[in-house]
Formats: sequence, C-alpha cells, structure tokens
Amino acid sequence: MIRVENLTKYYGETVGVRDLNFQVETGEVLGFLGPNGAGKTTTMKMLTCYLPPSAGTAKVSGFDIIEQSMEVRKRIGYLPERNPLYTEMSVRAYLGFVARVKGIRPPAQRGQIDGVIERCGLETVHRRTIEKLSKGYQQRVGIAQAILGDPEILILDEPTLGLDPKQIIEIRQLIRNLGGEKTVVLSSHILPEVSQVCNRVIIINHGELIAVDTPDNLRSRLAKAAILRLAFRDEGDAAARASRILESIKGVLIVRQEPGGDNARIFTVECAPDRDIREEIARALVGERIPLLELYREELSLEDIFLQLVTEEVS
Ligand SMILES: Nc1ncnc2c1ncn2[C@@H]1O[C@H](COP(=O)(O)OP(=O)(O)O)[C@@H](O)[C@H]1O
Ligand SMILES: [Mg+2]
Repeated sequence: MIRVENLTKYYGETVGVRDLNFQVETGEVLGFLGPNGAGKTTTMKMLTCYLPPSAGTAKVSGFDIIEQSMEVRKRIGYLPERNPLYTEMSVRAYLGFVARVKGIRPPAQRGQIDGVIERCGLETVHRRTIEKLSKGYQQRVGIAQAILGDPEILILDEPTLGLDPKQIIEIRQLIRNLGGEKTVVLSSHILPEVSQVCNRVIIINHGELIAVDTPDNLRSRLAKAAILRLAFRDEGDAAARASRILESIKGVLIVRQEPGGDNARIFTVECAPDRDIREEIARALVGERIPLLELYREELSLEDIFLQLVTEEVS
C-alpha cells in the first residue's frame, strides 16, 4: 500500500508536482495519467527514493520514503522511463547482476531468475545480448528486472512507450497478470491504456491532481448529458411518429435523425443526465408499434473526459 501526503517537488522555480494526495491499495493497478510534463515521472522518482521531495511525504508499506528509504527500496520494483538496461550483457547475465544488486542470496538466484524469465516470456531469448532484442523484448527484460526479488510494489514509468501495437498488447497483458498479486502503479499518456489495464486512474496536469476514480466512475461522473442511439426500420410514417413520441417523453432534450442505410433510421437522443429513461423510451416506441432495431447508450470515451478535465483546469 502507498499513501502519498502533500507530496511536492520544485526544480528551482519550476513546479514538478504540487500537493499530491492519494492512496494505492494492495493489489490495485493504479494508472497515472497526464500529458507530457504533467509530473508523472517526478512522482515516481520520489516514490522510488530517487529524488527527495521538496515538501510532503509518502509511505510505502508503512515506511517513510525519506526516513526509511532502504526499507522502501527493498519493497519496490522500478521500471524507469526509457528502460535503462546494460545492453551489451545477455538477458540472463543482466538479470544475474540485478539479483546480486538486490541482495538475493546466491542459492536462490538461479531459481528466481528462471522464474522471472518464464513470467515475462523470455525463455527463447535469455541467452541473447540485450541490444539485439526487439524493443518489446527489451521492455520485458525491464519488467523482469523490476519483479526480480518479488517486491510487493511495482512502479512502471510509461511501460509501453515506443512499442508497436502487438508488443503493447503483450506488455499490457503481462501487467494485468501482475495486478491482484502486486500493487502496480503505471504511468501513461495514452488514455485507452489506463482504462484497459487499471482499476483506478489518477489524472494529473501541470503537477496537480485533478481527478482520482475508476475509469467507469470517471466516465459517468463527467457525462454531462447521456446520449442514446436508436435504430429502427424505416417504413411508412415510422420516423415522424417516432420523433413525436420521443419528443413527448420527459427528460428528452434533443432528437436528431439521420438515415442509417439498409432501410434503417438512426436517431440520436440527448437526455437529461439525472434519470435513466431507456426503458421508458423502449416501452413507448414498441407500444406504438415502431419497429425498433436497436437502443443503446453511447459511452463517453476516456479521451472526452480527459479533455474536459484538462480544459476545465486550464480555463
Ligand atoms: N531534472 C529536472 N530539472 C528541471 N525540471 C524538470 C526536471 N525533471 C522534470 N522537470 C519538469 O517538471 C515537470 C514535470 O516533469 P515530469 O515529471 O518529467 O513529467 P511527465 O513524466 O508527466 O512527462 C515538467 O515541467 C518538467 O519540465
Ligand atoms: Mg515522464
């Protein structure tokens, strides 16, 4: 578990992060989301004891990052931004080096290294020189060194940056598999990524925390108006009747029509956000024998929410 209290970092006059407060529960995968320069790396460097805070503090598994930094370091696996590896070493030799640095006892080293090689899918490349591996495999080596020694907490700074789409899917899967068992904090500036991998999201911008919630809650909290999409077969005067029926329902704000191809009509209906009127709409249309084919709520994407938040913050 991680508890962050008023964590602040100044680089001279520049704000790195200011007054951050949040908590990460055991087994949770927390996404740290924000545009470049938001303060993600700065926060992670403080949590991993690479940088001292200017003010505030954080506790990792109950240990203070300033007063008890050795205890904190023992419990954290860290994949820094841009994954610094000794690329002239073989995967296995590098992991051996990391095992020694982490103080894993020699009799246990072999077994632990084999374990992370398997966990990270490195069986086919463990004897190869790191610089000869693809970026995706290098990233796996970065994650392997982070989980070596079985730390309780993993801090991964932009773990999918610079990977191709297939590699991204593989690394995300690997991270998802680590969650539940370990507490994971990962940063990303890619929005769909955090919604796919994380239980909870923290959005930061200009060094300040602007939202903490589950991806689902963020979506519903910020849905200013619910948008429904309806499709029905375009026959007779169905469109005109449907339009009248919809406009008579309380809570319907705006109705827009468009042709849907294949003799279908699509309606976009904006509803007041306070009440779910999907059932009422369905009942009214079917009751009047409108040939309804589809009715669904359009989900706000995390992109929309993010933009709303970040723009509100700026304005
Ligand atoms: N070593 C440094 N010296 C001066 N300013 C820095 C340094 N590292 C980061 N910053 C500044 O702190 C802010 C946050 O940066 P960073 O934590 O790297 O953001 P992110 O990882 O979200 O892109 C930015 O304005 C950045 O320019
Ligand atoms: Mg960064």
